[in-house]
Formats: sequence, C-alpha cells, structure tokens
Amino acid sequence: MADQVIIFDTTLRDGEQSPGISLDTGEKLEIAEQLARLGVDYIEAGFPVASQGDFEAVEAIARAVKGPVITGLSRTARADIDRCWEAVQHAERSRIHVFIATSETHMKHKLKMTPEQVTAEAAAAVAHARRYTDDVEFSPEDASRSDFDFMCEVLRAAVDSGATTLNIPDTVGYGIPEEYAARLARIRDVVPGDYVISTHCHNDLGLAVANSLAAVKAGARQVEVAVNGIGERAGNAALEEVVMAIRTRADFFTVDGEVLDTNVRADELARTSRLVSRLTGYPVQYNKAVVGRNAFAHEAGIHQHGMLEDASTYEIMDPASVGQGETQIVLGKHSGRHAFADTLEKMGITIQGDALNAAFARFKELADRKIQLTDADLEAIVAEELGGSVGRVFELSSIEFRGSNIGPASSTVVLTRDGDKVEATAEGDGMIDAACQAIKAASGVDGTLTDFNVSSVTGGVDALGDVIIQLESDGVTVSGRGVSTDVVEASARAFLNAVNKVVRIRERGEQRERVVGP
Ligand code: KIV
Ligand code: ZN
Repeated sequence: MADQVIIFDTTLRDGEQSPGISLDTGEKLEIAEQLARLGVDYIEAGFPVASQGDFEAVEAIARAVKGPVITGLSRTARADIDRCWEAVQHAERSRIHVFIATSETHMKHKLKMTPEQVTAEAAAAVAHARRYTDDVEFSPEDASRSDFDFMCEVLRAAVDSGATTLNIPDTVGYGIPEEYAARLARIRDVVPGDYVISTHCHNDLGLAVANSLAAVKAGARQVEVAVNGIGERAGNAALEEVVMAIRTRADFFTVDGEVLDTNVRADELARTSRLVSRLTGYPVQYNKAVVGRNAFAHEAGIHQHGMLEDASTYEIMDPASVGQGETQIVLGKHSGRHAFADTLEKMGITIQGDALNAAFARFKELADRKIQLTDADLEAIVAEELGGSVGRVFELSSIEFRGSNIGPASSTVVLTRDGDKVEATAEGDGMIDAACQAIKAASGVDGTLTDFNVSSVTGGVDALGDVIIQLESDGVTVSGRGVSTDVVEASARAFLNAVNKVVRIRERGEQRERVVGP
C-alpha cells in the first residue's frame, strides 16, 4: 500500500451534513453500493449517535456493503464510541473514527475544556475504541488553526493509545496549500509511530482540492473526500477531482520513482456523481471539473477546430475514462465552419459550397439568438437552406412589425435581389399576414396561402419554430419552409422561400401545376 493513496469517502457523513440534505436508509444504501462499485477504500457511513435514523443507516450499510471498510464517526464520549461500534461491527471490516477539537477557539468556546483535559480525553477515547477494533482513526478537529506543538502532543497521545490513522482536518477551510502541506510534513518529525497521515479539507476558500493534493505530495496517504464536493458549508474536497488530478498528473505525483494512484474505477465517476446529485437534490454545476456536463464540451471555433484535428489539443482526460462518454462539440455562436460541417456530416448530411456557406450564415444568425442548437435545429436550418439556396432570388434583409398578432398589423420588409434592395410596407390581419403582404408587394409575386403548418423543432421556451406553407400563384403550387426562434419571422421566411420558387419557375417558363417540396 506504500504507493497507494487511500480514498476515504465521507459523502454519507460530512456530505450529508450539507444544509438541506437528508438521506434515508434506502438512499444511503444505494449510494454506498455505488461507492463500493467505484472502488473507494473507506466509506464513512454516518455519525451513529447523532440520530436513530443515522444509526440504522450505518448498520444497514455495514451489513450489506462488501468491499470498502465501513466507518462511523464518534465524539470521544465512551457512550458515543459504543454506539458507533454497535453500528459498524457488522461490516467485513470496520473502523471507528474519533475526533475532538484542538484549536484554542474550539476548546474554549465549544468544548469548555483545558488543553490537558483534551489530551487525556483523546487518549482515553482512542484506547476505548481500540478495545473494539484495531482500525482507529483520530482527528484533532480544526487542526489547521490549532497550535502546532499542542496538536502534536494530542496526536502523540492518540498514537500511544493505538490510533492507526491520524487525520488532520482543515475544518473551516482556512489552510493555504503550502502552509497546510508543511504542517502535515512536520508531524512525522515529532510524532513517532506507525500510522497513516490523512487529509480532510473543507472548501471555504475554494482550496479543498488544492490543499488535499498538496498534503498528498507532502506525505498524506489517505484523502477524505465527498462526491461532487458536497459537505458542510462550501463542502469537502471533491472525490472526482482529487482522484483525477492524481491520475492525470502521475508525472507530478511520483514519489521516489513510484507512481501514486488510487483504487478508484474512474469510469464510474460520472454515474456516481449523477446518483448523488439525484438523491441529495444538489445539482452539479455545468462547468464542474470532471463530472460537470460541460467538462468535455467545446464551443469556441478555434477549440473545435483543434479538437477535430486531435483531442489532445484541448483535453487532458479522455471523457470515456471518467464515464462521460464522448467529447461534445457544442454548436453555438462561437463555433466555426469546421465544426458545423463536421456535425452535419455525423448526422449524415453532406453539403458543400454555396449551400454550406448559406446554411452556416443562417446557423450563426440563429445561434446568436438561441444559446445552443440541437441536431433537430440543424436539420431544420439545412432543410430551409437547401429548399431555398439553389437559385435563390430574393434574400430577406430585414423585417419589422407593428401592431399585434391578432387584429390589424403592419410590416415592413427589405428584400435584396442581386445586391439591389426592395422595400415594401403592407397592412394585414395579424403580423404574419402583414409580413406576407409586404413580401408580396416587394417581390411582385401574388398568391394565396393554401396551407400553413407551424411546429416546434425541439421542446423548451427557446425552441425553433418550423413553418411549412403552401402558396398557390398563377396555377402553380409551391411549398416553402422557414425556421426561426420567432414564429412570425419563420412564417415570413417560409413565405419568401415559396415566393422564390414561384419566381424561379416563372423565369424558367415552367408554368405547370405541380408541388415543389421544401
Ligand atoms: O471537518 C472536520 O473537522 C470533520 C471532522 C469530524 C473530521 O469533519
Ligand atoms: Zn469535515
């Protein structure tokens, strides 16, 4: 185990202490089973004396979950330790984790004990726990704000009484990596014995993972973590970040030529994160490292181009290795033509030349209005462009509306044809009608709408509206299609698409009655 970093998961104890989280026994069991599948070494299943519910959950986990060592937290009171053992004793392997505060402020204001009393209490509690199991962890709470010499005195007493792991909590997230690591490194010099040093960091200054990793570099071989970084206040060090930092930067986490690693099966990380999020009700921020939904998503055109050439340009981890599936090229307003064409190709749509340019321009215009475009959106854009780009006559340059959707309205459209602008204003019954009348006036194409169909391309309030119409003009019936975030604009685009077909047919002298598909 010398080069192994023990992963001590406290999602079900410190993590569950997050405001608003309350897991029942069934939920805790489900998470514990998944933690076992993930390959953590220790599961701190709860604080058995805290409540009957917590006791029952720890006991159920101890009985059912195989693989990891099952741990319970306990204050130094003998009755607490007895209760803790009662719950964890059923496990394949069990640990008792005893803690007492050693900082001046905690001793004075919370414990109301003298330093001598705290030392004696720590020693007696560890000795009591050792009667039950030879795996006893001791934590001097608020260690990073404790007087170093006094903290070491208490640690010595704990080791002399049989503690096998010394956990150094940065209880209030006060530590700074170099300083916290130096504190840990000095412990070995002054506390003799055979024990594992453990780190337990809170995230009040956003440094929980950084402090934990600095501690590993300084000699800690157990890291206490919680899935998704949940925990008291700003949370604990995030399991997935610690594990992947150690694995990804194996070059840095190499000690005396030996590479440090954990037993975690990283491809279970995303699933574990989702389960914990679902059962705790705590969402995972989109940009969360490793398990966030955007952790492997690329939107900027330059990044997408690099990624399409070689994933190493902008990814330091393989998304599949952490259970996140494939890299995502997200099409948005920052995306470039490469990513656009590549995405279409993956959808089985190959367009080139002018059609591609026109579809890309339309995509950029829509992406400016809609945060993200789905495959269905893209299909609709391409369908509109393919239906209208070949031999397009009029382009829609701008469109304005006055009035309302029901009742009288007017619209002004500006169309361009071969670089020349044609403008027209018309009244109508509602905005869609007004827009169609204005297009008729500007294009000189008259006709009657014989069919009008509007649908949404995807769900959600920002979905694209997809309008398909049929226009009958001088005995010719054509269809037109338009998509936009605005249904009135989509209708105008569909109408113009149909008008262009009429003009094309007229110009080619193809005055026969037929339907041209969108
Ligand atoms: O943050 C802390 O000090 C703790 C201890 C009980 C280990 O959670
Ligand atoms: Zn804690």
